[in-house]
Amino acid sequence: MSGRETALWHPFATMATVPGSTVTMVRGEGSTVYDASGRSYLDAIASLWYVNVGYGRTELAEAAAAQMRELACFQAYEVFSTEPAEALARRVSDLVPMADAKVFFTPGGGSDAIDSAAKLARAYWGAVGRPGKQIIIARSHAYHGMNAYGTSLGGIPAFTDPFGPLVTLVEHVPWDDAGALAKVIEQAGADRVGAFFCEPVVGAGGVYFPPEGYLAEVQQICRDNDVLFVADEVITGFGRTGEWFGSVRYGLQPDMMTVAKGLTSGYLPLGAVVVGPRVADPFWRAGSTEMFRHGYTYTAHPAACAVGMANLDILEREQLVSRVRELESVLAAALAPLADHELVSEVRTGAGLLAAVEISAAAREAHPGLGARVVAAARSQGVITRLLRGAALQISPPFVITAEELQQIAGVLTTSLDGALA
Ligand SMILES: Cc1ncc(COP(=O)(O)O)c(C=O)c1O
Repeated sequence: MSGRETALWHPFATMATVPGSTVTMVRGEGSTVYDASGRSYLDAIASLWYVNVGYGRTELAEAAAAQMRELACFQAYEVFSTEPAEALARRVSDLVPMADAKVFFTPGGGSDAIDSAAKLARAYWGAVGRPGKQIIIARSHAYHGMNAYGTSLGGIPAFTDPFGPLVTLVEHVPWDDAGALAKVIEQAGADRVGAFFCEPVVGAGGVYFPPEGYLAEVQQICRDNDVLFVADEVITGFGRTGEWFGSVRYGLQPDMMTVAKGLTSGYLPLGAVVVGPRVADPFWRAGSTEMFRHGYTYTAHPAACAVGMANLDILEREQLVSRVRELESVLAAALAPLADHELVSEVRTGAGLLAAVEISAAAREAHPGLGARVVAAARSQGVITRLLRGAALQISPPFVITAEELQQIAGVLTTSLDGALA
């Protein structure tokens, strides 16, 4: 397709080069997708970390269709509600490691959830009479989506720098240094810091697992300083780490959690802020007149919520979260030999079906475009991966992937690296 024929503007793409190179996907089954020419690809990244139950689940299509036939949509502002929204909120509340959690659904996915959580953090401090606690702290390498708060909280300079300071009163700390968090809070003054946003496992920033004890320490620092601890579980939520949530895997009890992707496995877009009792209380307490002045036209969309319910049914019925836990060591073993490859500086595995193969800085410097060539070579051999931060190959397959398919991914990555300098 030429530049004149297509009108589709792709995210994160150099549009001068995309026309003529597009890969149009038409069908999927399990961990495999098929393009318009009939070629098949093993999807090593579950689209964008989200098709957790795999492709081709007609059960999810039927859940959406059934809801749409009955009541396709209705708003959730003020007193209005729908049955799927109520049911999914109750179910998520019962699943998370927070007592009596409340669920604020967001329509677009993780970015909306992040911006909602950030606004709620600031609104909370206003509601409890401490409006000065406005500063939000995030980490280097962090990815919190592309809305205004999320862009500002992001710790990947290429994604934040072009847009300037969209949201002010945002600070960053190194992703692995709990002491740095304590220091920034001390310097700013705890009475000015409202929240700390933290991915249990850094995702789009390169798949970095938390150093031993790091998450417990930052959570404690937040408690000691009366700072809300917000776990961004957009990737880690609903099983990706081999537990229902990264917070369970790492023993955390966040004040708020953001979720999206795995909530519906992406069959329809849906996210949520899951709010613990502390933050909910000033808004929900009997007699309170506080209102969270925030919402979206499609908040708690009933068709998306019906898909969410059916998706959780599949995860539970097929015990896919324990399957992820079982496949964790299979994935690690399959990728381990890549650590010795001359172009690779590190293979990161450690929790669930999440991994990255880092192409060494020396190799990338010596051979500009190396990473993109590896990704293209893998695709030509039928495996879809992508580059994170220009350096690391992402591996985050659907939970239904088999041990043989994981071996196949590792094999194709190896031959793609082998051939990249040829
Ligand atoms: C940790 C995290 N937070 C937020 C987001 C933003 O989600 P979305 O792209 O669905 O808006 C992402 C997306 O990858 C993410 O990985």
